[in-house]
Amino acid sequence: MRLILAPMEGLADPSLRDILTRLGGIDLCVAEFVRVTNHLLTEKFVLRTVPELDHGGCTPSGVPVRVQLLGSDPVCLAENAAFIASLGAPGIDLNFGCPAPTVNRHGGGAVLLAFPEQIHAIVAATRRAVPEGIPVTAKMRLGLSDTSLTLECARAIEAGGADEITVHARTRSDGYRPPARWEWLSQIREVVTLPMVVNGDVWTPEDGQNIRRVSGCEDVMVGRGVILRPDLMRRIKEGGEAMSWEALRPWVLDYFDLLCARMEHRHAPGRLKQWMGMMRAAYPEAQEQYQSLRTERDPAAVRKMLAGF
Ligand SMILES: Cc1cc2nc3c(=O)[nH]c(=O)nc-3n(C[C@H](O)[C@H](O)[C@H](O)COP(=O)(O)O)c2cc1C
Repeated sequence: MRLILAPMEGLADPSLRDILTRLGGIDLCVAEFVRVTNHLLTEKFVLRTVPELDHGGCTPSGVPVRVQLLGSDPVCLAENAAFIASLGAPGIDLNFGCPAPTVNRHGGGAVLLAFPEQIHAIVAATRRAVPEGIPVTAKMRLGLSDTSLTLECARAIEAGGADEITVHARTRSDGYRPPARWEWLSQIREVVTLPMVVNGDVWTPEDGQNIRRVSGCEDVMVGRGVILRPDLMRRIKEGGEAMSWEALRPWVLDYFDLLCARMEHRHAPGRLKQWMGMMRAAYPEAQEQYQSLRTERDPAAVRKMLAGF
C-alpha cells in the first residue's frame, strides 16, 4: 500500500508538506498545480510552487514530490513537463479534475473530461517528452456533470501511456459534496491495467481500509482528511491511538515558523488560521486557540500564543 498526499492549491503548501511528511505515513506527495499556458515557465516560477526541486525533489524528510501541471495544449504541456523533469522532478502529474471556473474557462482541468481524445493527446505528448524512468501520471474526476465518459477518459489516459492514474470519485458538478462515489472506482479498475490510486472522502483510518476494499485498489490519495488529522496516514498504515492536540501543538508551532521563514510575516497568520480552522473539526480543544488567533495579525503575538496554549 502507498499513501499519497493530495495536491491542494492554497492549502497543502511546501511548509505543510514538510510538517505532514515528517509526521509519517506519507509515501509520496503531489504538489498543487502549476498552470501552463502558451510559454515555457521559468525555473523561478516552478520553484515557488515546488521548492523541493532544489532538494532532490523531496521534502526534508525524504518524501518525493511530483509536480502537477494544468493546461490544455499538448505541445506546451509536453515542453514544460520536459523542462520540469530536467529540474529534477521525481514525476509529472497531469490535472484533469480541477473544477475552478477560471481554470475551466481556459480549457484546463475538469473540462477536458468532455474530450477524451484531447486527454489522450496530452498524456501521449507528455509521456514522449519526459525521459523514461520519470513517471507521467494523471489525476481525473469521474466526469463533468455525469459519468457517461468516465471509462473512456480512464482508457484514454492508459492508452496515452500514463504510468499511473488517480481517480477522485466525483464529477465536477458533485463539487466536494459527500459522499464520494467509491462504487465507480472498481468499475474503472476493471477497464484499465495501469496502477490506480483512489481518492475521495477518506477521513478516518477505517475509511482508508474501506476505500481499498470497495475499489480493489491498494494505493490511496488523501487530501482534506490529513489536514484535519495530521497523523491519519500513519494510522491507516499502523493503526494506533490518534495523536492528542497537546502532542500536535509543537508541530503547529513548527509550521508557523516555516511559514514565517518562507513568506512575508504579515501573511503567515492567515495561513495558520486556515489550517487551524479545519483542524478544530477533529480537535475541539483547538477551537479556543483558533478563536484567539482569529483577530491576531502580529506574528510575534501569534507565536507566543501558540507556544503558550
Ligand atoms: C483547497 C483544495 C485545493 C485543491 N487543489 C488541487 C490541485 O491543485 N490539484 C488537484 O489535482 N486537485 C486539487 N484538489 C483536489 C484534491 O486533490 C482531492 O482530489 C480532493 O480534495 C478529494 O480528496 P479528499 O476527500 O481526500 O480531500 C484540491 C482540493 C482542495 C480542497
